[in-house]
Amino acid sequence: MPKQIHLNAFDMNCVGHIQQGLWTHPRDQSARYTDIHYWTDYARRLEAGLFDGIFLADVLGVYDVLGGSADAAVRGAVQVPVGDPMLLVPAMAAVTQHLGFGVTANLTYETPYQFARRMTTLDHLTQGRIGWNIVTGYLDSAARAVGLSGQTAHDDRYDLADEYMSLVYQLWEGSWADDAVRRDSASGVYADPARVRLVHHHGKQYQVNAMHLGEPSPQRTPVLYQAGSSARGSRFAATHAECVFLNGQSLPGVQKIVEGIRAQAVQHGRAGSDIKVFLGATVITGRTETEAKEKFADYQRYASSEAALVHAAASMGIDFARYDLDEPIVTDKSNAIVSNVEAMTRSAGPQWTRRKLLEQMVLGSRQTPWVGSAESIADTLIAWSEQADVDGFNLSRTVVPECFDDFIAMVVPILQDRGAFKTAYAPGTLRRKLFGQDRLPASHAVAAHRFAADQGSPR
Ligand SMILES: Cc1cc2nc3c(=O)[nH]c(=O)nc-3n(C[C@H](O)[C@H](O)[C@H](O)COP(=O)(O)O)c2cc1C
Repeated sequence: MPKQIHLNAFDMNCVGHIQQGLWTHPRDQSARYTDIHYWTDYARRLEAGLFDGIFLADVLGVYDVLGGSADAAVRGAVQVPVGDPMLLVPAMAAVTQHLGFGVTANLTYETPYQFARRMTTLDHLTQGRIGWNIVTGYLDSAARAVGLSGQTAHDDRYDLADEYMSLVYQLWEGSWADDAVRRDSASGVYADPARVRLVHHHGKQYQVNAMHLGEPSPQRTPVLYQAGSSARGSRFAATHAECVFLNGQSLPGVQKIVEGIRAQAVQHGRAGSDIKVFLGATVITGRTETEAKEKFADYQRYASSEAALVHAAASMGIDFARYDLDEPIVTDKSNAIVSNVEAMTRSAGPQWTRRKLLEQMVLGSRQTPWVGSAESIADTLIAWSEQADVDGFNLSRTVVPECFDDFIAMVVPILQDRGAFKTAYAPGTLRRKLFGQDRLPASHAVAAHRFAADQGSPR
């Protein structure tokens, strides 16, 4: 029996997400992102295809690294304009029963107390289908937007994130006991104050003396995603993440990273299988190889490598406009996404240049698509899941919604026939569907912050 593959649609509440320029394709509907029905139709479609979830990226700030200006980003809709991803969730949850939601939120600019309540609210409204992609940001433009001169240094952002996590764990799992809510209309007691505790947190960054505002939700802590694989990022993932989102084009390269992630989880007292790894992938498929290749050629006519360069410059923190086409890029000082710089160096060699980068951007992004018949795409997904030990894929949208319609109509049935993809949803919360239980296990860092059975009410 092959390993079960998990599938998320990977998107963002904006026009140009990963594959830049495709919004100009006549069949692409991404410019409808401001229409709530666009998202509710999208959610229904994914649930009909038994997708595990929709994973929504988010970025605060704008891509103004290339040439020191945001003009090209604005012109080409490169992740701007962009809407708040969390506000899409209740609408999509109302028209689905099983679809999970992985929502990106940058903790650097959210106070833990308010953020914790928002996630608890979403966990209730989705009946336990909410996940959080924990990010700390990579853009100086975001820092400037909130009155700072620039963002915190790369590793310091993770230190701040560690403290943030210990605080939100206390709010989610240490403030209200499981039995705090009585809802006893006969006695007029909604909740027992003796079973609700104040959180007292006095850390380097945060000071909180407060009870959590939300009552216990189905999962308490949302399913935790994380997407940084630098050395410091991997340590953070090993401590906190349940799902790790990776980019990578070479199977042996990804296999090595996955091995490293699982080994680090074990060093942190967890099992390697406590972490599910999702690989970012772009798929273009058809009934035959020829049909897929023709579709790829058609899409390519609308892709923009200029817009892709805007995105790449900001995510790697490197202004390529300062380099000649064939001048080797200096990569040692990134304060942005280190793993993106590392992935580029792995795929193009240590002396990579702007020309090599542009050559990789065959569809408006560095992520080279897998183009092939539905049979061959199914083979590829199964091969990566078995050989690189990834648990699932975050499928980037190309021309929406047809990219998901194609995948669901053609690839999903083959994966099902081969026993690699479910034929019905399992009941329950997102965490139960992925890991067989509603709450994080005792081996996770959250356990130290839970409301202990014998705990009183320090107020
Ligand atoms: C595949 C992938 C997806 C990411 N998605 C986002 C995102 O949506 N929003 C964001 O602010 N950061 C995003 N990041 C950045 C990382 O979450 C991370 O916070 C940071 O940039 C550091 O990563 P590093 O440890 O690899 O340097 C992403 C990174 C990767 C590798």
